[in-house]
Amino acid sequence: MKNIVVLVSGSGSNLQAFIDACGNKIPNARISAVISNKSDAYGLQRALSAGINIHSLSAAGYENREQYDSALATLIDLHKPDVIILAGFMRILSEDFVLRYQGKMLNIHPSLLPKYTGLHTHQRAINARDKEHGTSVHFVTPELDGGPVILQAKVPIFEDDNAEEVASRVQAQEHVIYPMVANWLVEGRLLMKEGKAVLDGEALGLSGLETE
Ligand code: GAR
Repeated sequence: MKNIVVLVSGSGSNLQAFIDACGNKIPNARISAVISNKSDAYGLQRALSAGINIHSLSAAGYENREQYDSALATLIDLHKPDVIILAGFMRILSEDFVLRYQGKMLNIHPSLLPKYTGLHTHQRAINARDKEHGTSVHFVTPELDGGPVILQAKVPIFEDDNAEEVASRVQAQEHVIYPMVANWLVEGRLLMKEGKAVLDGEALGLSGLETE
């Protein structure tokens, strides 16, 4: 059985998708801990309800990003992670931290990367009058939202949509694709090699696995 450590900052709906997937869609892994930088993150409540170890690690007591990330890594390593899942963990990560877990840390970002890195992605897509938007699961590398994409899901943007409506459409897709991609990593089908995502021996393109 492999160990997954999940990092959250907020509601944890993606975490919930992992809680529901472990034991079935992810048959060979369990969540060994959930860690948040926010003590009031609802994701921690979800983990508690599921009987999962939780930790809250506020950045307040640390002088700089490197010190915080070093404490975070110590906490993560207590739980012997095979896979680390960033599920709405809203902190920029230091290079040392990212390199320590490179190849086994995944993030989900709510845009069709490389479009709209950073924040407010749904509103930015609406403002640009995009007809489609989506979400990307990618390996984490030191470049913010810049690691190789593994899988994207697209959703339409309709006239008069607001950011909340688009976000909920995007999140419904996230809850499907994120556990699926994590399972590929758990099963050893997915790896990162020479800066590319490789699935079942095939290097993936810029948008990850082509599903259309
Ligand atoms: C998700 O939609 C995820 O794509 C986004 O935060 C949300 C967390 O929701 N992540 C980022 O913006 C990272 N740059 P959740 O707490 O309900 O899973």
